[in-house]
Order: sequence, then C-alpha cells, then structure tokens
Amino acid sequence: MTRHHRVRRPLSLALLLVAVTALAVPGPATAASFPYQDPTLPVATRVADLLARMTLDEKIGQMTQAERGSVTQADLTTYRLGSILSGGGSAPTPNTPTAWADMYDGFQRAALATPLAIPMIYGVDAVHGHNNVSGATIFPHNIGLGATRDPALVQQIGQAVAEEVSGTGVDWDFAPCLCVARNDRWGRTYESFGETPDLPSDMSTLVTGLQGATLGGPTSVLATAKHYLGDGGTTGGDDQGDTQLTEAELRAVHLPPFQAAVQRGVGSVMISYSSWNGVKLHGNQYLITTVLKGELGFTGFVVSDWNGIDQIDGAGGFTAAEVTAAVNAGIDMVMVPSAWKTFISTLRAEVQNGHVPLSRIDDANRRILTKKFELGLFERPYTDRSLTPTVGNAAHRALARQAVRESQVLLKNAGGVLPLARDNNKIFVAGKNADNIGNQSGGWTISWQGSSGNITPGTTILQGIRTAVGPTTTITYNQRGTGIDRTYRAAIAVVGETPYAEGQGDRTGSMSLDREDLRTISTLRNAGVPVIVVLVSGRPLDIATELPAWNALLASWLPGTEGAGVADVLFGAGPTGKLPMTWMNAVSQQPINAGDGQVPLFAQGYGLTY
Ligand code: GLC
Repeated sequence: MTRHHRVRRPLSLALLLVAVTALAVPGPATAASFPYQDPTLPVATRVADLLARMTLDEKIGQMTQAERGSVTQADLTTYRLGSILSGGGSAPTPNTPTAWADMYDGFQRAALATPLAIPMIYGVDAVHGHNNVSGATIFPHNIGLGATRDPALVQQIGQAVAEEVSGTGVDWDFAPCLCVARNDRWGRTYESFGETPDLPSDMSTLVTGLQGATLGGPTSVLATAKHYLGDGGTTGGDDQGDTQLTEAELRAVHLPPFQAAVQRGVGSVMISYSSWNGVKLHGNQYLITTVLKGELGFTGFVVSDWNGIDQIDGAGGFTAAEVTAAVNAGIDMVMVPSAWKTFISTLRAEVQNGHVPLSRIDDANRRILTKKFELGLFERPYTDRSLTPTVGNAAHRALARQAVRESQVLLKNAGGVLPLARDNNKIFVAGKNADNIGNQSGGWTISWQGSSGNITPGTTILQGIRTAVGPTTTITYNQRGTGIDRTYRAAIAVVGETPYAEGQGDRTGSMSLDREDLRTISTLRNAGVPVIVVLVSGRPLDIATELPAWNALLASWLPGTEGAGVADVLFGAGPTGKLPMTWMNAVSQQPINAGDGQVPLFAQGYGLTY
C-alpha cells in the first residue's frame, strides 16, 4: 500500500511542536521513541500525537473490523486493520483456550508490524460466558439473570467472563445486550434481562464486571452496550424489524439501559439492525450522534452490527452512499466481515471527494485509539497466559451454578410437591431437555445458533439430579417417559425449546410446547404420578391450557453448563427467582407487558418459594 500524502489538518501550536520535533526522527517506531508510546503521558496527549502521525489509510484501517476467517496476518499488516472479530462460533482449530491465545497473538504480532505499531483489538460475542470456546463456563442467558434480580451477581459474572476472555487474548466483548424485549415472539428475547427498562438498567453492572472499575486492569475487557436503539421493540417481535414508537416512548422504554451503561463507562456501543419508524438505525445521525454522543455524553466508540451498513438502503451489499451515511451518522468502526477491502477503498474515496469530512474520520479514530490506550493494549498487546487456565475453572462453574439456582422461577407447586426428598425416593425423569447440554445452553453456544447434544463440558440437569440424591433413591431416565409406572413417587419432565439465535428464533405462529413434549408429559400423567414440569426455554411459552394438569412448573430459562443448579432447587434450595417477563395467558396476547391492561397467566415479578 502506498503511503498517501498527509491530508492537511489544523494543528494546535503544541501539537505542531510535537509533530515537528518527533518527525525529525524518521524511521520505524522504537520503544518510547514517540510521545504516543509513553505511558506516563495523558491518554489525550498520546492520542493527539499518534493521530498527527497517521495517514488517511491508517485512519481508515482503524475504523475497519474484519472477520478472522476473511483475513490473513499479512492483510492486517498491509491494510493496517484496527480490529478483528470472531463471528458466532468462529474459532481456531483446535478450539482450545491455548489455540485461541496463539491465534490472537499471531494477529496482534501482524498488527504491530506496521510503522506506527498500533495494536489491533479483537472482539467476540461472549454473551453468556466465553461461549465460542469449548470448555468455557456457560452462564445462564440474560433472561435467567434478569430473574435473579441480583445485579451484584451479574457483576461477578462479568468479572469471571472477563478472566476467561482475557485468558484467550481477546480484549473486547460484544456484551451486554441491554435490549428491552417487548414481544416474546422475538428470537432474541432470551438476550434481554427483562421487558421493562429497569431490569437491563440494573444489570448494566455486567459492564463494570467486564471492564473493571476502570479500563486497564489485568483482566479488563471492553464491554459493548447493544443494540442501540429499540431492537427489542419491533412490531411483531420481528428481528431486525421496525420499532414504531413516538420519540417519547422510545426514550422511555429503550434508552434508560444505555444511559446506565454510559454512566458506567461502557467502552463501546453497537448499533441495532432494526429501524425506528422506518429509518434504519445504522444511518440515524440524530440518535447516534445527537442523542448517544451528545445528550448522553458517550465518549467511547460506536461499532456497526455485522454487515449492518448494508441494510441502510434496503438492498443487499453496501454502496458508497451507505458507507458515507453510516460514518457520518456517527458509526466509528464498521463490522464489515468479508468485504473489508471494498469498504476501505470506498471510504477513502468518500473522504477524498469530501462526502465524509476528515474531522469525522479523526473523531472516530480519537474514540477508538482512546479505548486502545485505556485498555493498555500499547503496553500489554499480547495474551496474559497466566489467565488461560481460568477458562471453565471450578470457581467460575460454582458461580454459574449459583446463578442457575437464583434464576429458577417457581410458577406452580400444587400440594407442595416440591422440594423433592433426596433419600428414600423413586423419581422418573423424562424430556428432551433433561440430558442435553446443548439444549440447556441455547443459542450462542460453541456455534452461532447453538445445537443439541453434548457440545461442551458441563453438567446436564439429569446429571445434577442424579448427584443430588442419596443412595436410597432411584432415578430412572427415559426421554419420552417410556417405562414409567405408578411405583414412582414423582416424575420430572424437562421440556421446552431447542437452540436458536437471532431471527431464526422468531416465533410467528404457535408458542406452545412441541408435540414430543406434550406426548412425554401425557405419558407421565397417565401413569398417575405427580408431574413436575421444568421448562428450558428462551422465553415464556403458551402453556396455560396444559398447566392445570401439571403439579408443578419451574421456569429454568437457558441455564448453561451448570445444570446442577436446577437440581439444587428441585431438592431443597428455596427458589428466589422472579419473572423478568410477563407470562402470557394465550399467544394472542403478544405483545403482553406489565401495565398494558391485559390479564396474564403470571405477572412480571411473580415467583413462588419454599
Ligand atoms: C450478530 C448480532 C450481534 C453480534 C454481531 C457479531 O449479527 O446481531 O449481536 O454482536 O453479529 O457476531
């Protein structure tokens, strides 16, 4: 790549002096040879010095985020790329923490092999643990964490995730989702802490858990408040659809969690695919620049969603006009997984023809570089290998088990059938989600969509049950309930949903249990045995018709790898969870939310204990 002529920019006198002095010393950067490489200087000074040395291409490179599978280390060096990401499930082979760290360090080494040696920042979706990594601790998805009503616990989870993420080199987490899910049909309902803004606002403690009180700690990982703005409010719960609200309603329902995250110093904000009253967020300068950066005072950087700029004009791919619209709207870094070369050349042309002012490019770079300096990437660009063994360690799994316990919501307990006796008992366990790590973890687990089966080390709910009981108790398992008879004292049916993510999880029709689950429960019922339904799902389901025939109902949400936390509650730990979402009486009520005047089966905040 040829070094382009330095585009002239008004320099303050101080800066001019710095630039003249420093430029007098040509040649590759060596340790602390330039002010920006001096960690004793204020970050703003380092940013100003570095910016003054950067060519337009270097600045555009910082604004470009490519997917790991579409870029080589040499590309990173040649095109000065500022960031790499792993899309959902995009992992090195073998998928081990050490292989991740080696991959990260390889990319970082390539990034530093440039004249200015600006480190790259690597982003992943660690949305319920470091969930792309085999063996990582998988925590309950956000809907379960919302049920805990425990912001301090969520902060601890953030800290644990930050340790595991840092142990693989990665320094940026596209989490937390602070969406306010208003229609349970939405495939991302489980990524929401709750249907009212108070819950995601309270759980913004995850930001502090991930980042630390200030960035720059040994395990600090840049957090991302997403997806700005109104992703959970689309009509019909249509993923990436249109949020049709007045500005007052949009501000009242969807903005508070972002205000909370900004107040906690969140380092980045990701833009939503959705639209507000027909205008795609990725091109909305009012909401991104005037409101988020101006009114809320957000000083971090804004990142697009995956190919999010392609959607601005409604047609596939991106045009020069969309690149300009997105960058001028206030997007600082563009997640352009594979077409990043085209993006670079397009943005360069749009700056050179005056459509994108250099001041916008410089503002984006100041924001990005400020976070890189604050994270300590210039001083500590490589993986801290002492953290690699934290991935999936016992302490994190114990914390996850506590979170699973606290997330359980007891919705029915006729005759006090729960808790179950650990000893001298005979219990039949059935259901497709009883012995299935993949199903109990849900989407965004090892792969983008998640999948059924034994996909990563953990404890299934059945294994948790077996461990919970004493030697005088019999546990029998059959997925469909075959073999049950009236000699059993109780039957546990672990049913619900199988994994999905994003739009593939949208449910536009029925929200009832599937036929297999209904048959399984019926088999258990017909044996004349009390039936306890454990619902493993990413959202409330339409179960009002069947509920009278069930003796007990426990909403388990998507607990992750530590299924023993469900057994803890079944055998004695008093359930403390409270519904984060209103539970429909019938699917025809969707959307149904607190205060909307409809009569639910269970209100938001409902939860029994014993
Ligand atoms: C996805 C999601 C977003 C995620 C990003 C990168 O499409 O919308 O939540 O962070 O792409 O994987």
